Amino acid sequence: MNVRIAGTGSALPGKILTNAELEKLVDTSDEWITTRTGIKERRIAAEGEYTSTFAAEAGRKALEMAGVKPEEIDFIILSTVTPDFPFPSTACIVQDMLGAVNATAFDLSAACSGFIFGLSVAEKYLRSGSAQKILVIGSETLTRIVDWNDRNTCVLFGDGAGAVVLEASDGDHSLLSTHTFSNGSYWNLLYQPGSGSRNPATNSRTIDEKLLYVTMEGNEVFKHAVRAMEEASVKALESNGLLPSDIALLIPHQANRRIIDATAKRLGVAPDRLFTNLHCYGNTSSASIPIALDEANRQGVIKPDSKLLLVAFGGGFAYGSALINW
Ligand code: UT7
Repeated sequence: MNVRIAGTGSALPGKILTNAELEKLVDTSDEWITTRTGIKERRIAAEGEYTSTFAAEAGRKALEMAGVKPEEIDFIILSTVTPDFPFPSTACIVQDMLGAVNATAFDLSAACSGFIFGLSVAEKYLRSGSAQKILVIGSETLTRIVDWNDRNTCVLFGDGAGAVVLEASDGDHSLLSTHTFSNGSYWNLLYQPGSGSRNPATNSRTIDEKLLYVTMEGNEVFKHAVRAMEEASVKALESNGLLPSDIALLIPHQANRRIIDATAKRLGVAPDRLFTNLHCYGNTSSASIPIALDEANRQGVIKPDSKLLLVAFGGGFAYGSALINW
């Protein structure tokens, strides 16, 4: 049994925060942010907008494109590091919002690689015949867990969601492979120290020591990101007997333009085969790849029968790739 992407969708907050506006908040400059990251602006969730808000909207659009009714969905797999609540899962809230009454819904945690991990889990359900249609969503409101006084991190992140409807299919237009990897020895290079069982949000120390914010050793993460994204991409190519020149479009996790360019260069994928949108949205963690995929799809950038490589890296470390024959 093959697995095809039947529809894509994305949703972003309306509120834009530009580099120029950030210059007024912290000691930074448009020049620094642009040259070091490639980011020009990001979207920020407004009051009353949550991770579920964007997830449900992206999911609705993907269902619409696929021509699939919410009640036909067997599973909702939602990746996020910024759920509405620690429990229940944001996926259950989205199930309710969409009316996907026959779905089993759960969240998946693999930081910025969560969407690829979600695709991988969904692929197994579909190939084994345990499901016919699955909604995979990556949704984040990272701006709720960044320290707006810390220039090292607050300039990097943004909010939004992307989604795909995956369905079992006999055709050739399919998800060819997914590969997932973890290296837990670096878990403390990129994490949120507070709000879990080690530093509960109920402990005043958690607030006083600013443990609820994203903490990152940027430089170290950068080096690992390039190596790991190359490794995951090579694995995808080799397992499908493909060469970098066979890839029509590379959609990498949108964390840093320099990481993306270095990865493409090491792989030998030409710059005109890269899809990037981080200049508009910053790093939206697990939402970045499905947002980019939806934009590329709706803009007609992806040609039928072309090969698409998705590759992600993030906290954990967790990383992975997916190869699609569109
Ligand atoms: O999404 C999951 C994976 N995440 C990533 O892949 C992120 C990986 N890391 C990165 O993208 C980059 O490391 C950053 C963009 C976070 C930082 O870029 P960098 O080139 O590694 O800069 P740096 O951390 O080495 O900092 C260089 C300098 C420092 O000043 P000193 O110590 O050299 O005087 C920083 O204090 O830049 C300074 N700096 C800033 N200056 C102006 C850091 N942030 C800013 C800022 N504006 N916003």
